Amino acid sequence: MIFSDKDSTQFADLETPFYYYDLSLLDKTIASCATEADAHKFHVHYAMKANFNPTVVQRMQSAGFGADCVSGGEVNQAVTLGFAANKVVFAGVGKSDKEINTALDNDIFCFNVESIQELEVINELAEKKNKTAKVAIRINPNVDAHTHHNITTGLDENKFGINSWDLPACADMLKKSPNLEFIGIHFHIGSQITNMEVYKNLCVRVNEFAAWFEDRGFTVKVLNVGGGLGIDYHNPDQQVPDFKSYFQIFADFLTVRAGQEVHFELGRALVGQSASLISKVLYVKNGKKKNFIILDAGMTELMRPALYQAYHKIENISKKASDVVKYDVVGPICESTDCFGKEVELPETTRGDLIALRSTGAYGEVMASHYNLRENVRVVFSD
Ligand code: LLP
Repeated sequence: MIFSDKDSTQFADLETPFYYYDLSLLDKTIASCATEADAHKFHVHYAMKANFNPTVVQRMQSAGFGADCVSGGEVNQAVTLGFAANKVVFAGVGKSDKEINTALDNDIFCFNVESIQELEVINELAEKKNKTAKVAIRINPNVDAHTHHNITTGLDENKFGINSWDLPACADMLKKSPNLEFIGIHFHIGSQITNMEVYKNLCVRVNEFAAWFEDRGFTVKVLNVGGGLGIDYHNPDQQVPDFKSYFQIFADFLTVRAGQEVHFELGRALVGQSASLISKVLYVKNGKKKNFIILDAGMTELMRPALYQAYHKIENISKKASDVVKYDVVGPICESTDCFGKEVELPETTRGDLIALRSTGAYGEVMASHYNLRENVRVVFSD
């Protein structure tokens, strides 16, 4: 870790909190994913929602990935940062007319459509522009991702995608919409998936749905299986995810016909391990029942623990390992959920020590907020 073995007094003037990005690790991760995907001729779209910092996004673009966007803002950002429009896909249950028009004006590769009504609206807006919009149908396959319920998206009770029982109506709508071109089917069943059996189950469903459309005369050119590959938050030093095994599952279990392309939308796995949130200890409160470390970073800089009870490894990077003390590590925000970890074992910690919250590259900086009128979160790159 960057600052180890230094005396904490050296950091008195260091302005914290900030996100620290290890760009060589990021590059290594991107290269590994690109190599393993290329081995199967798979196409990867980077899920910009995980981290839309331009420095990060540009590296994804340079690697040859496309961009997976979920808002007009992300579509604009992707195009501005150099992604070819024909490598931009646009998903989301609530695309506004304005956002659809933005995507149509940019001639993006395709809309991943999440309801029959959305098909109708895209057809109307495309007609007004005298354009044909390429669409993939996002299907809710009712496959359990076995992840935290707040980041599960592919079950019947979730709002995402079109349910199987609505597919006949969906096929009818496609057939009577002259300004839509059906290109394929799309899935995304959840995030932080670590059980690879889940992806086998997904492949079975994808094969069934592809056959369903083909039986009805549609040409399914694109099989988009979404993202979701998890990272090991307990071992941030293991760093690069096992892309090889991940892609192999799809190579083994997906039925890919001649001329079909397989698309992925990875976010967390590409960027998650490459950043830490560096924070300073403001105060230490030793109580009878609990010891508290109060940091200058809070849920406003890293929302995940408050929102999903997510684990991020917490390290005191100013102190060498010694006898440990148990602390509740909390932020300064006026909310009881502003807590990064309970009973965390750390070396005896004092005011001014630097604390690293690891594996914060994905859904960290991008989910920061100004609650309590907090300042913009700062960012430092390793170069
Ligand atoms: N494709 C779609 C349609 C998605 O909705 C998502 C993530 C992805 C791809 C990328 O998933 P990934 O490979 O990053 O797992 N804020 C939460 C995660 C929300 C994920 C939203 N959708 C968290 O901090 O865990």
